[in-house]
Amino acid sequence: MERDVQIEILFCGICHSDLHQVRDEWSGVMPTVYPCVPGHEIVGRVTKVGAAVKKFRAGDLAAVGCMVDSDGTCPECKAGLQQFCPNFTLTYNFPDKHLGGVTYGGYSESIVVDENFVLHVPANLQPAGAAPLLCAGITTYSPMRHWNVGQGKKVGVVGLGGLGHMGVKFAHALGADVVVFTTSPKKKEDALRLGADEVVVSNDVNEMQKHLGSFDFILDAVSADHDINAYINLLRRDGNIVMVGAPEKPLAVSVFSLIMGRRSLSGSPIGGIGETQEMLDFCGKHNIVSDVEVIPIQKVNEAYERLLKSDVKYRFSIDMASLKSA
Ligand SMILES: NC(=O)c1ccc[n+]([C@@H]2O[C@H](COP(=O)([O-])OP(=O)(O)OC[C@H]3O[C@@H](n4cnc5c(N)ncnc54)[C@H](OP(=O)(O)O)[C@@H]3O)[C@@H](O)[C@H]2O)c1
Ligand SMILES: [Zn+2]
Ligand SMILES: [Zn+2]
Repeated sequence: MERDVQIEILFCGICHSDLHQVRDEWSGVMPTVYPCVPGHEIVGRVTKVGAAVKKFRAGDLAAVGCMVDSDGTCPECKAGLQQFCPNFTLTYNFPDKHLGGVTYGGYSESIVVDENFVLHVPANLQPAGAAPLLCAGITTYSPMRHWNVGQGKKVGVVGLGGLGHMGVKFAHALGADVVVFTTSPKKKEDALRLGADEVVVSNDVNEMQKHLGSFDFILDAVSADHDINAYINLLRRDGNIVMVGAPEKPLAVSVFSLIMGRRSLSGSPIGGIGETQEMLDFCGKHNIVSDVEVIPIQKVNEAYERLLKSDVKYRFSIDMASLKSA
């Protein structure tokens, strides 16, 4: 098609959403169609462009995130909020408008995407670490911008995984006072290095108590069942906890914790295309990439098992050159 950009994929991050979907853990919301090719943290090199493409040329470094299309005409699209478009197309496991069947994602040699859904990667960012910005990056950047995280704000980040570690980097770069909550005491040093001002091991009741009623904003990036009320109670009056983590099962919410303090519990999905470019440019300016462990495609299953054990520092990025030796 005229507006298509063909990209040779260099690196693709492994998001915990890939694992949820490969194992059909979100069957109630988006059942998995097999065979499934996951991957929505894509950085690659443009190999070919359609006749009407204006923003990319062969040889450019380019990126693709969680969406590859939307209608472009609804109020959400007009507001630049494609992530809320009722007719968007997700990068994988989603009905493919052009080819039928479902879309296939970034664990692949190449991908063809409408130029409006292709992003520019700042030249100073190394591609392996830039790939996770396309989901883990924008998913944490967007709610922080929406709820005005910045100087003078006390911000909590729950769960130091792929999303969480990006949340720490952004909150720190935006000037907030950052506290990390982790179940893994061995991540303490890393959290401080990534930009946290303080680290709390969440099963330490005394440590948790010290922070009661003190946070303006908490980003919850936990992938599994956990006690969310413990964090709601840490919010100050009118504080907000935003769920970006998407556990398989519903969470039990103590309504009284919300009522007392007029606190809010909210959620946020990825971010719009314009905002994704803004986030990439912000990363270029502040030299922010994801801390990655680069793996060959042959280690994907092992990486998934390690993800389940919270054993990743802090994102796996697949070197797609390894596909050729598969
Ligand atoms: N909203 C969106 O648009 C969006 C986008 C991308 C991903 N997601 C979702 O966000 C979640 C996180 O994704 P991710 O890729 O960052 O995953 P991840 O790298 O596996 O990180 C999840 C972290 O949660 C903590 N955790 C895991 N199991 C836990 C448990 N049982 N109790 C308490 N904490 C636990 C761990 O941190 P500690 O070791 O520090 O405790 C772990 O590192 C997933 O559910 C994913 O599907 C949502
Ligand atoms: Zn993701
Ligand atoms: Zn739309």
